[in-house]
Parts: sequence; C-alpha cells; structure tokens
Amino acid sequence: MVQVKNICCIGAGYVGGPTCAVIAYKCPHIKVNIVDVNPDRIAAWNSDKLPIYEPGLEEVVFDRRGKNLFFTTEVEAAVNEADLIFVSVNTPTKKNGMGAGFAADLAYVESATRGIASIAKSSKIVVEKSTVPCRTAESMRTILEANSTGDIRFDILSNPEFLAEGTAIKDLLNPDRVLIGALQTPEDRKAQEALVEVYANWVSTDRIITTNLWSSELSKLAANALLAQRISSINALSAICEATGAYVDEVAYACGCDKRIGPSFLKASVGFGGSCFQKDILNLVYLSEQLNLPEVAAYWKQVVDMNEYQKKRFVERIIKTLFHTITNKRIALFGFAFKKDTGDTRESAAITLCKHFIQEQATVHIYDPKVSDEQIFLELTEPGLLDNTEEVKKRVIITRSPYDASQDADAIVIATDWDEFKKLDYTRIYQTMHKPAFIFDGRLILDADKLQQIGFSVHTIGRPAI
Ligand code: NAD
Ligand code: UDX
Repeated sequence: MVQVKNICCIGAGYVGGPTCAVIAYKCPHIKVNIVDVNPDRIAAWNSDKLPIYEPGLEEVVFDRRGKNLFFTTEVEAAVNEADLIFVSVNTPTKKNGMGAGFAADLAYVESATRGIASIAKSSKIVVEKSTVPCRTAESMRTILEANSTGDIRFDILSNPEFLAEGTAIKDLLNPDRVLIGALQTPEDRKAQEALVEVYANWVSTDRIITTNLWSSELSKLAANALLAQRISSINALSAICEATGAYVDEVAYACGCDKRIGPSFLKASVGFGGSCFQKDILNLVYLSEQLNLPEVAAYWKQVVDMNEYQKKRFVERIIKTLFHTITNKRIALFGFAFKKDTGDTRESAAITLCKHFIQEQATVHIYDPKVSDEQIFLELTEPGLLDNTEEVKKRVIITRSPYDASQDADAIVIATDWDEFKKLDYTRIYQTMHKPAFIFDGRLILDADKLQQIGFSVHTIGRPAI
C-alpha cells in the first residue's frame, strides 16, 4: 500500500485551508503544502490575520505552520513533492453559456487538473475535494491520462467535504463520516486505502465510508439537497404559522422529537445562504435535466424557489408593517454574514434584504461583528444586483456597534443568528429609536415577550406579530 508522506492541496479557501490544516495537525508525520493562485490569500495564511474567520482555526494553523504545514504559491514544487493531491478549488454556478445559472463552472477544476498533468514527474493520487457534478472524476482522469508522460499513473478518488462554516474545525476533528469513493479496480482500491489510512490517524474507521466513485460524488450533492430541503420545508410551514397563530419553533420542536424526523435543520429563518446549498441544488437540477429527468429536476428546484419566496415574504412583511413604505426610513440590519461564527457573505440572505431596502429608498445601517466594510460594499455593488454604486454609497452605512446602527432607526432587522444579538441591552436600544419601534427577527433568536414588554412591536419569522 502507498504510504502518504506528502500532501499538496490546490486551493487555499474555506475548505482547502481548514481541511488540510487539520490533516497537518493530526498527522505530524505528513508534510502538507497548501497552494493557491491568489498570492494575497497565501500571504494572509502566512500572516497573523488568517484570510477566513473560523473558531479554533488559528490554534490549529499556528501550531503546525512552518513545521509540517506550509502555504505557498509555488504550485510546481508542491505538486512534484506530493504523493497525494487534493483539488479543492471553487466550483461556482456558471454565469454564462450552456447551463448558465444552474451548472457548476468546472473551469477551475479543469485548470488545476491540467496543471497537475503538466507538472507531475511521478505517479500521484488525485483527490476531488471540491463539490462536483456526478462523473467529473471521469473527465479528470481523461485529462490526466492524455497529458501525462512515461510511466506516470494517476489514481482518482472522490473525497467530498461535509464541514459547515462556523463549525469547520469541530466538524473536521470529529466528523460524522468521511466519504472516499474510488473505481473498483485493485489499483484504485489501494489508493482509496492510502487515503483511509490518512484519516484513520484521528477518525475511527467505522466512520470512514468507502464507496464507488459515482456514489461518492452524488452523495455530496444529495446531502446538501436533503439538508436544504428540510429548511425550505420548515420555512414553508413558517408562512402557515404566521397566518394561523401557530409558532413555527413549537411545531419544529414537536416534529423533531419524533426520532424518525430528528431536530436538526428545522430552524425557520429568513432563508438559507452560504456558498453551497443553492449552488449544489441548482447543480443537481441541471444534472437531472441532462439525464432527461424533468420531474426530478422540478422537485429539487422547488427547494430553491421556496428559499427565494421566504426572503421576499420577509421583505414584504417589513414594508407592510412599516405602514406600506420604507422610503427614507432608517433600518438597522443586524448581521450580514450568511450564518453566525463566520465572516463569509456568499449568498447571504442579508444581501437580498439590502437590495430591496435600497430599491425602496430606505437607509440601511449595518452591523456585523466579523464582516469587513469592503466585503459588504463588494457584495452590494456586485454587477446585476443593483447596478447603482452611488445609490449603495448613499443609502448604506456601516456601523461599529449594534447601538450605533439602531440609533434613530425605525426598525431593527435580524439577518444573522450571531449570539451577541441575544445579549444586547434592548431597553437602551429602544430608547434611541423612532417610535413605534419595530423589530423583525428573521432568525428566531430573540425573546419576543421581553421585547414587547420594553415597548417594541415584535415580528418574528414563523409567529404572528405581537
Ligand atoms: P474558495 O473560493 O474559498 O477557495 C477556492 C480557492 O481555490 C481560491 O482561493 C482560488 O484562488 C483557488 N484556485 C482556483 N483555481 C486554482 C488553481 N488552478 N490553482 C490553485 N488555486 C486555485 O472555495 P471554498 O469555499 O473553499 O470551496 C471549494 C470547494 O469545496 C467548492 O467546490 C465548494 O463547493 C466545496 N465545499 C465548500 C464548503 C464550504 O463550506 N465553503 C463545504 C464543502 C464543500
Ligand atoms: C452546508 C452543509 O451543512 C455542509 O455539510 C456542507 O459541507 C456545506 O454546506 P454551510 O453552508 O457552511 O454548510 O452552513 P449550514 O450550517 O448548513 O447553514 C447553511 C444556511 O442555512 C445558513 O444560512 C444557515 O443559517 C441556514 N440554516 C441552517 C437555517 O436557516 N436553518 C437551519 O435549521 C439550519
């Protein structure tokens, strides 16, 4: 069996960085090089301020960096040294051409694969870590074999990543499962075994699942689709709750106590965000269409449609409640990240909320503990969102505290479930706001009764107003 002594990870992003840092942490006998084409990102990984915020990440990186963990732009040297290469590059939704708006853009995967083929001077195990459509490994194999020279052999494995942002280190240290797919030839099985051995340094082997290559690729899209489907289901029920007087949190609890249903991913919200759920479901929709399965495609597409509906419904509730107009009103937006404990804003529901608030000519005072001002402006000036940079500059103010954001505001809107929003002095906040003072809890994190006693008009997702 090949013993892995040197790993290269292509892509130093939210997945490549934490995943391979944890491998270095748990396998001091393995040298890990994480490479990226973006020199600024590599410089940040080598600095005191890492490019991503993730609880526990600094401890892991600072412990191993310079010992058996290296961040570098020297792709060629790192690929050549490695026995095993993770491809952990971005696979965003295609913006143009065939499949635009649905299919995954595999240009980065292809370019990384071609890079490996042109550099490698010895045999390698190449591992798909990126989330990809089913059968991408076949294209990777074709590219690698067509471009390799001499006796070099490439074994391709699929090892999708299941970490969630905000809990990445916890998830990596103690995963529910590690999934490793391979073709069922004796050589491919040996490669699969070599990767099993790496994880077995800290993950018990009953949690390391080995499957065929295509099951592994599809399981990643399936897991995300199933998780997002639960959120869309509870969000659909939240609309019924608001109209009937049922409380969605009570309904979720009552349903989740049934062992067959379980309590996870039943928290109603203003809508799921993040770089994965929408992208991966649209990818599954596209795959189904390509396979001539229109009913299957329509079924999964509804999960994304429900998410869009939830965001729109929340905005409409805000506008209706604020006497049908928010023009020149001040809205304090608490949170811009797509969930707590991350600075990531990709597909955050807060972006859609801001878009509508700006279009309705409100001013938006934003507070988020981890998202930088530049990142907020970058998202809000993204081509195709508003296409009016001046309007964004005029109407969006970024504040240093929730107290500053809510000063003279007509309404507070909770967009992210940061724990600190639960502990604020809402009496103090109430005193500084315009009256009536409204609060819209899009995350079900606040004590509505307490806020009502202070004087707020409280509107919680999945509950009638009080
Ligand atoms: P990311 O954008 O944060 O990081 C990708 C990195 O790859 C970037 O820094 C980019 O510069 C680099 N890159 C692109 N092409 C390259 C090349 N040819 N050579 C070297 N570097 C290259 O993306 P991410 O969030 O880390 O996601 C990576 C993959 O993992 C995606 O397929 C995603 O769907 C999947 N995934 C993400 C998460 C998550 O929570 N973010 C979880 C599970 C799976
Ligand atoms: C997700 C998957 O959970 C993870 O396994 C996969 O590897 C990557 O995609 P991530 O997007 O980082 O992880 O975070 P997750 O915790 O799944 O939350 C996604 C979105 O759903 C967030 O906006 C979150 O706030 C929202 N959410 C989550 C809900 O609205 N309700 C819930 O019950 C759970």
